[in-house]
Amino acid sequence: MSLTKFHYFCAEMETARRVYIETYGCQMNVADTELVLGIMHGAGYEKTDTLADADVVFVNTCAVRENAEQRAFSRMVDFRKHKQSKPVLVVGVLGCMAERLRRRFLESDRSVDVVVGPDEYRMLPALVEGAMAGERGVAVRLSRVENYDDVVPLRTEGISAWIPIMRGCDKFCTFCVVPFTRGRERSRAFQGIVNEVRQLAERGFKEVTLLGQNVNSYRDGEKDFADLLTAVAEVDRTMRIRFTTSHPQDMSDKLIGVIATHANVCNYIHLPVQSGSDRILELMNRSYTADAYLALVERIRRMIAGVSLSTDIISGFPTETDEDHRQTIELIRAVGYDGAFTFKYSPRENTKAWKMGDSVPEQLKAERLNEIIEVQRAISLRKNKQEIGRTVEVLVEGQSRKSALEFCGRTGTNKMVIFPQNGFVAGRYIHVTIERANSATLFGRHAE
Ligand code: SAH
Ligand code: SF4
Ligand code: F3S
Repeated sequence: MSLTKFHYFCAEMETARRVYIETYGCQMNVADTELVLGIMHGAGYEKTDTLADADVVFVNTCAVRENAEQRAFSRMVDFRKHKQSKPVLVVGVLGCMAERLRRRFLESDRSVDVVVGPDEYRMLPALVEGAMAGERGVAVRLSRVENYDDVVPLRTEGISAWIPIMRGCDKFCTFCVVPFTRGRERSRAFQGIVNEVRQLAERGFKEVTLLGQNVNSYRDGEKDFADLLTAVAEVDRTMRIRFTTSHPQDMSDKLIGVIATHANVCNYIHLPVQSGSDRILELMNRSYTADAYLALVERIRRMIAGVSLSTDIISGFPTETDEDHRQTIELIRAVGYDGAFTFKYSPRENTKAWKMGDSVPEQLKAERLNEIIEVQRAISLRKNKQEIGRTVEVLVEGQSRKSALEFCGRTGTNKMVIFPQNGFVAGRYIHVTIERANSATLFGRHAE
């Protein structure tokens, strides 16, 4: 490097602006944060994990439930305060809340400088630039085509990567804001995804998760999700392939067959049911009955040996009776899920369910939710105890949260396993014999 070039380089280093970003919500948002950082990186910004160092602060938000929004709002207040001591700081709200509350941010809420929805992230560098010059930047249009196919995400090096393969949702479940905050469903090009997986394999990644709000309704011309999964699985047979979230409606036998026949496609399906009552499922516009869902689970279990299943459940949807709730509990027992994500119904403005009122009192929602959680906890415990004595293959992730002497990793069925450290490195596959289990975790020892 010549001296002048070196000086120029140093000057650049000094002026490189730093962006700090906090992410809430689903994995799609986690992946979008990597896209945002990729776009900002292309415009000369560096990522920082220290708020005090930042010139730009983003909150990538979720709008799916009221409490998710409350959390993001309180962070925006914190950042606003921080800005008082650093007036040049640019504070931005990204993601689903930016989209859902665009009018409020445009008209009444001046707490942030930049407001950008999920389909407008390419605008970020220009809007931030404008904000630094004192202009407020808002970009909240939804697109029918944007899928950031050509943007290189800024991934943290590791063993596991998220790959969004489609964006948006056309299902319009009556309780859900996602179709409004993320717009119409669109899929990325088949070959681009396969190439990305290949590059990740070459960089040493050991696990990829294909992401979409309805990952299994992926389509590119003649090719469907089963075709994509097949192609991705064949890139590197030592790489684990996961995917989420699957809608029961799009869970074809062809797809189940692909999961069953590819050893590196993990035997784990997250299959949200939402409710066990046909009346509520219909009001939710979920497009299946409890019996159809149970029949699907049976087909999955028959075709994929040792498959593990998890679900999402909402308690207290408008008009839900004790009888509806009892049917949900029955369905949970009938399926015997390995795990469940459970939520109290949260009314979202402009959705169809919003007009149905919020008829189940908070207290009753909470009681029902607790019962669901308790029933599921007992099932998870029973299932995990069945693993005791078995030897399972684990992809080592790194130190466990509780102790430096212990490491953790997951089984293909997505169960967390803790084992003695023993000099393992992240990214290695090892066999662990399970000795102990609680409802959330398995504990074991390296099998020689
Ligand atoms: N696309 C995925 C995930 C959507 S959001 C799917 O269809 O399964 C994740 C979960 O949040 C949903 O499955 C649902 O259980 C829950 N959820 C969505 N809207 C909600 C609301 N208004 N109140 C409570 N839970 C909600
Ligand atoms: Fe929301 Fe339903 Fe779409 Fe899932 S499938 S994102 S719950 S509208
Ligand atoms: Fe939340 Fe948006 Fe994901 S509403 S669940 S961050 S799609």
